[in-house]
Amino acid sequence: DLTIEKVTIGEAEKETTFRVSKQKDAIKGAALIVTIEPTTEIVTVHYATAPDNAAALDWVAPELTADKKQPALFTQGQAILTRTWIPCQDSPGIRITYDATVKVPTDLMAVMSATNPQKKSADGVYNFVMQQPIPPYLIALAVGDFEFQAIGKRTGVYAEPSVIDDAADEFADMEKMLIAAEKLYGPYVWERYDVIVLPPSFPFGGMENPRLTFATPTIIAGDRSLTALIAHELAHSWSGNLVTNATWDDFWLNEGFTVYFERRIMEALYGEDYANMLEVLGHQDLMADVTDLGAESPDTHLKLKLKDRDPDDGMTDIAYEKGAFFLQLLERKVGREKFDAFLVKYFQKHKFQTITTEDFIQYLNDYLLLPNEVRMDLNEWIYGPGLPDNIFLRASKNFASVENQVAEFYKTANTNSLNTSDWTTHEWLHFLRNLRPNTNVQLLSKLDKTFGFSESGNSEILAAWFEVAIKNGYAPQILPQIEKFLVNVGRRKFLTPLYRAMKENGMEAEAKAIYEKARHNYHSVSKNTIGRIVNG
Ligand code: BES
Ligand code: ZN
Repeated sequence: DLTIEKVTIGEAEKETTFRVSKQKDAIKGAALIVTIEPTTEIVTVHYATAPDNAAALDWVAPELTADKKQPALFTQGQAILTRTWIPCQDSPGIRITYDATVKVPTDLMAVMSATNPQKKSADGVYNFVMQQPIPPYLIALAVGDFEFQAIGKRTGVYAEPSVIDDAADEFADMEKMLIAAEKLYGPYVWERYDVIVLPPSFPFGGMENPRLTFATPTIIAGDRSLTALIAHELAHSWSGNLVTNATWDDFWLNEGFTVYFERRIMEALYGEDYANMLEVLGHQDLMADVTDLGAESPDTHLKLKLKDRDPDDGMTDIAYEKGAFFLQLLERKVGREKFDAFLVKYFQKHKFQTITTEDFIQYLNDYLLLPNEVRMDLNEWIYGPGLPDNIFLRASKNFASVENQVAEFYKTANTNSLNTSDWTTHEWLHFLRNLRPNTNVQLLSKLDKTFGFSESGNSEILAAWFEVAIKNGYAPQILPQIEKFLVNVGRRKFLTPLYRAMKENGMEAEAKAIYEKARHNYHSVSKNTIGRIVNG
């Protein structure tokens, strides 16, 4: 959908012929075919996007930003959207360097996954360089009324003026995370690690654009309780950005390693039970996904088969959680010390390269399993469905206490029996996920009155609560709050379960009506997924 004006070859920009393949693949798009000469090393494409046709781009109206004064723009490249705003060989299996000159209105600042400004320029022109070779899905641009605030020597945040102080406070431990990550798996090679807080239409929690993680504002909870997401995106600086999945079938090599690494960072900073809570919640997500996909589904294999499908279809919790549990099992087999040493070598050996699942298995056998005489069935993990029996799951002490209190609550039907004074977001999530099916509306209303869930400022709690409410017939009483959330937040992970639950629980008309109001606010990634749910 790019408008291509002309294509030239060589330094002298000699015009050449080109065509766009007639057949447009519904998933991959159309090829740009350029005539080159045997000696051609430079091809220049002169082109434009249009406001409605580049799926990577979200042109954000001022009303949809935090400060509501200036418009904003951001890109989302992963998995195969970079091609919608840059004509390129858009595969995770190749690497590129880039530089860019971006001109924006002088009220706005531009930032990229590259060297970045920390102040607005007088003329609205910004120059960027990404010197290290990266896969095309990591090219990223954001434009808006952003300010920068430093956190540590190598870390800082970008956000709109009304958000910047809260963001800096929320992410105060970023420098410590970076130091902990380096201590685990070797030097951070990207020089700076900054985070930009985008408008709420950002369709993901976070995106690991190198040097500059893109993040949703919904992780600013006010109590630093959702910062595992920062640890996750930071961890991608090793797993994903430095060592990259060769194809989207190998997506677990990006995400499974990153979830494992994320929890190690969180454990280093906040202790073992913190990481255990994250793990138990992750296991719950995994079980839910296995149930949704079907325990025998090939989509529950770590190694995927996405040929002729949209890679987005493979981006389930399988890659994340089954991947992380596989690595955790390996850790348990050889002990943490040996496993960590293995991972340090793995990142060192494969840096700035891509890797397939098969390459990894070979490397794993050669450098970890054979030397340590570990025999295990890798195939059932990599090429088999569901969850193997030898999955190793840690328990959380804090969660055990939550479970006891849930039982007590149902016995007494009284919120007084709940002692929640030292609960953090994680305990609340565990509590909400453990409420029983068919909990009656009176009981839910009592909970809501006591704990104010429907008015919570914590997006994770809101999303979990609304799901409970919809599934148990309490939603009609809090429909305005649900609608407000769905219209204002574009994070797909929150939207999908809520729209789906509405559809499955007799609220199809409400889901449609809300979606009609909300869809203009969503990035194409969320619009496509939710559109399919709502319209069947
Ligand atoms: N790289 C992913 C986001 C992504 C995956 C974008 C696939 C497009 C296609 C990112 O690192 C991620 O996993 N984000 C999670 C948060 C994380 C803590 C699990 C998210 O956005 O929820
Ligand atoms: Zn990730």
